[in-house]
Amino acid sequence: MGSLRIFTYSMVFYAIVSIQMTCCQSKVCLPEKQAPLFVFGDSLFDAGNNNYINTDASAQANFGPYGETFFKYPTGRFCDGRAIPDFIAEYAKLPLPLPNLHPASSLDNYIFGVNFASGGSGALVETSQGMFVDLKTQVRYYKNVRDVLRKKLGNEEAKSLLSRSVNLFSVGSNDYGARFVSNISVLQRYSKQQFVDIVIGNITEAIKDIYNLGGRKFAFVNIGPIGCSPGIRFQVKGYECNKDMTESATLHNAEFPRMLQKLHKQLVGFKYSVFDFHTSLSQLMNYPSKYGFKEGQRACCGGGAYRGDDSCGGKRGIKNYELCENVNDYLFFDSLHPTDRANQYFSNLMWSANLTFNKPYNMKQLFEL
Ligand SMILES: *[C@@H]1O[C@H](CO)[C@@H](O)[C@H](O)[C@H]1NC(C)=O
Ligand SMILES: *[C@@H]1O[C@H](CO)[C@@H](O)[C@H](O)[C@H]1NC(C)=O
Ligand SMILES: *[C@@H]1O[C@H](CO)[C@@H](O)[C@H](O)[C@H]1NC(C)=O
Repeated sequence: MGSLRIFTYSMVFYAIVSIQMTCCQSKVCLPEKQAPLFVFGDSLFDAGNNNYINTDASAQANFGPYGETFFKYPTGRFCDGRAIPDFIAEYAKLPLPLPNLHPASSLDNYIFGVNFASGGSGALVETSQGMFVDLKTQVRYYKNVRDVLRKKLGNEEAKSLLSRSVNLFSVGSNDYGARFVSNISVLQRYSKQQFVDIVIGNITEAIKDIYNLGGRKFAFVNIGPIGCSPGIRFQVKGYECNKDMTESATLHNAEFPRMLQKLHKQLVGFKYSVFDFHTSLSQLMNYPSKYGFKEGQRACCGGGAYRGDDSCGGKRGIKNYELCENVNDYLFFDSLHPTDRANQYFSNLMWSANLTFNKPYNMKQLFEL
């Protein structure tokens, strides 16, 4: 089963790449002005890195019914189909970014980008507890990729490629989640505002590290309404939203663009884009029918209140779970993650919506800058 999964995945990947490479004559194929997509962060973006690390099933999605809508097999994405970076790659005419830890990941795909995201990880090392690939480690892997590119393409070509590339992040939600859900004391001794400063401070360091390695373009989704996700509501008395998590998300989303504006002044050539994931997800959650969905609050896959008990797939301690009939009616696939259809909706907004959702650029503009 494991090898079949890898084989099928490679087929999807090489099929797309070979189309793009047909016009290419040089030894290392490097399409003119092609901008790679590098992906960092958590389970919203993980395309299967956690399949290759020693972690538990709560941070893995390599079993059915994950993946069944689009790929027809579990890839490790926390979704019935594609994650946001898959759609963004498609719109940018790139192959789907392979997980960095995938055995087939090499120079052949590095020139189109690679996905470093790892479910469960956050900006702080404490959030991962050594169980997931934390942000610092993801940046270290990015440096390895940079080193391979330099060796194979030469410093100038590698520099030019990395300066065109877009670095896309989903990070922070698990830090705020871990602070309220787990018993990790180091995460709890700060005030809410101090904690936001520390999370953003660590994201800033990661951005600067990538900038110093050659990255210039950075795109982010802000923190969604995490306190109201089915998986969090399931744990709160009366199944209300978690107020502390909601407040942290609001503080984070206010401070984060201010940090980016500062970086824009400090770092020559630094360009960025922030997608208002919080607003767009809230709209789908609160008015699903306005956007063609039927259910905005309850998950498609899981059990208990809001189907938020994290049992999707039956491999995380609870064997029995429910699966909705029509996944395309749902915003949430499992207790925390949107469906393929919802991810497509968000990706369309990220790619081409105006300043209402993307500040100061949408992703199409960021790729073309
Ligand atoms: C924290 O929780 C874990 C399980 O979630 C448990 O094994 C550990 O003993 C707890 N630590 C403390 C200090 O309560
Ligand atoms: C990064 O996080 C650590 C905790 O993991 C914290 O001690 C440190 O101050 C943070 N760094 C910045 C720049 O905020
Ligand atoms: C963005 O587009 C929407 C309609 O699609 C429009 O209502 C809104 O005014 C636009 N906002 C800006 C800042 O251009």
